Amino acid sequence: MARVAIVTGGTRGIGEAISVALRDMGMQVAATYAGNDERARQFTDRTGVAAYKWDVADFDACQEGVRKVEADLGPVDVLVNNAGITRDATMKRMDHAKWQEVMDTNLGGCFNMAKAVFDGMTGRGYGRVVNIGSINGQAGQYGQVNYAAAKSGIHGFTKALAQEGARFGVTVNAIAPGYIDTDMVAAVPEEVLGKIVARIPVGRLGKAEEIARGVAFLCDENAGFVTGSTLSINGGQHMY
Ligand code: CAA
Repeated sequence: MARVAIVTGGTRGIGEAISVALRDMGMQVAATYAGNDERARQFTDRTGVAAYKWDVADFDACQEGVRKVEADLGPVDVLVNNAGITRDATMKRMDHAKWQEVMDTNLGGCFNMAKAVFDGMTGRGYGRVVNIGSINGQAGQYGQVNYAAAKSGIHGFTKALAQEGARFGVTVNAIAPGYIDTDMVAAVPEEVLGKIVARIPVGRLGKAEEIARGVAFLCDENAGFVTGSTLSINGGQHMY
């Protein structure tokens, strides 16, 4: 039977590439999205992957949404926590709402979604969880105390949950993308982005498909010995 996967924020950008990669591995994929109905409809027309609308920052909506996916497709074997937002501002201009929104979506979303699927995975003895962190969670970034804290939290979350899943065939890993050619990065002011790209040894932005390739590797049935790890895919911008 085909594995069932949920990709949050799975209809656009990196998430779309991940949804397509998992589909191409033969999985039944459900891609979630929070707001953009038109883009989600186009995504489904283009890819044949079903889209489901709920806010990953809303705990109850996640539990209910996962129940709906399971009713439609079957028990969830693979979860990719990809949904994320930015609310960049220097500390001086960062209000509490910008902090909270990013924490609730980027980090809270990982908890809310994992909570909905983890018991089922451990109970059935198989699961793959991949959380999308960021180079900026590893290295920090000017104007991103909220985003860097949330993404850094994802890396801790990954290592802790990996320990709980390990005995039950459930692997939990993270990817730390660098600057990828998506709407999120396009929103960075041009002169700031130019300086960032100048510091990427590979000399360009990454492609969404280059992140999806890493996710596909971690979600493979043969990747059972890889857990608690973070795979950096950043063109050499941050090495450690
Ligand atoms: N280091 C040191 N100083 C910096 C700096 C940096 N990296 N970036 C900006 N500054 C300085 C500026 O030179 C400026 O100083 P002066 O006033 O003396 O000239 C001061 O800080 C204010 O800079 P801005 O004019 O840019 O301030 P702003 O308030 O208009 O904007 C900002 C601040 C919103 C943080 C803006 O600089 C910005 O958007 N930066 C990009 C942040 C970023 O990289 N976000 C990543 C988004 S993509 C993503 O997050 C995906 C992922 O996972 C990689």
